[in-house]
Amino acid sequence: MWHASVFTLFPEMFPGPLGLSLAGKALREGRWGLEAIDIRSFATDRHRSVDDTPFGGGAGMVMRPDVVDAAVGATVAAGDPARPLICLTPRGRLLDQALVREIAAGPGCILVCGRYEGVDQRVIEARGMREVSVGDYVLSGGEPAALVLLDACVRLLPGVMGAAASAEEESHGEAGLLEYPHYTRPAEWQGRRVPEVLVSGHHAAVARWRRAEAERITRERRPDLWAKHGSRRPEPAADAACGEVLRRPEPAADAACGTAANTRLPRAAGAA
Ligand code: 6GU
Repeated sequence: MWHASVFTLFPEMFPGPLGLSLAGKALREGRWGLEAIDIRSFATDRHRSVDDTPFGGGAGMVMRPDVVDAAVGATVAAGDPARPLICLTPRGRLLDQALVREIAAGPGCILVCGRYEGVDQRVIEARGMREVSVGDYVLSGGEPAALVLLDACVRLLPGVMGAAASAEEESHGEAGLLEYPHYTRPAEWQGRRVPEVLVSGHHAAVARWRRAEAERITRERRPDLWAKHGSRRPEPAADAACGEVLRRPEPAADAACGTAANTRLPRAAGAA
């Protein structure tokens, strides 16, 4: 079973939100496992101290290498099937969907949540921890980052998401694009109609429109992703998504391709 061991000073934060929704259901069904281990229980001195002031001075406290090493050692030595050992820190490499897929495909992970200014670098090196960050902003500790990483992995495990997981189409999926926008009933709401192509029944046109929207949104919002996408683009852009053909072909539907989604209806006379 895919298993996560989380080392933290706040074990009560787990499973937290992962005890709810699909991840929580899967956890109760034994589709994945989670243990939160209190780093403080590996402290050795009278005051059970886990941190100390930084050499060289400066603000904050640093987590002690001996305590973190003792904590992690107990789990690593238990002959684990080589689960990746990850220290969550804003100094780490950015978590992305490729790393999520890699971790989800393995036997699980061992996570170390830094608090204070971080963890003594020597234990990170000695244990060969991978340092991972969840974004370019600073959290008060690694715990919410661990929850983010686990959520992203767990939803990829077999039987967790059911039919809802469409790895191909979702944002950060195979295409390297953000996902196109979504609409449901009613077809008109507060004077806004859903894009006509989506109600046309023209599957190929829908696929083209979605691809074009995904490309537009990625270009506008994430030029960094767009640049990467361009350099690895596997097939000619718009037509690639259109394998499926042609029930009720409607020339009008094509006209909507590549245009912005929301078309406002003219307001009724006298409307505010
Ligand atoms: Cl992994 N930890 C903390 N404390 N802040 C972060 C982070 C991690 N990732 C982004 N910000």
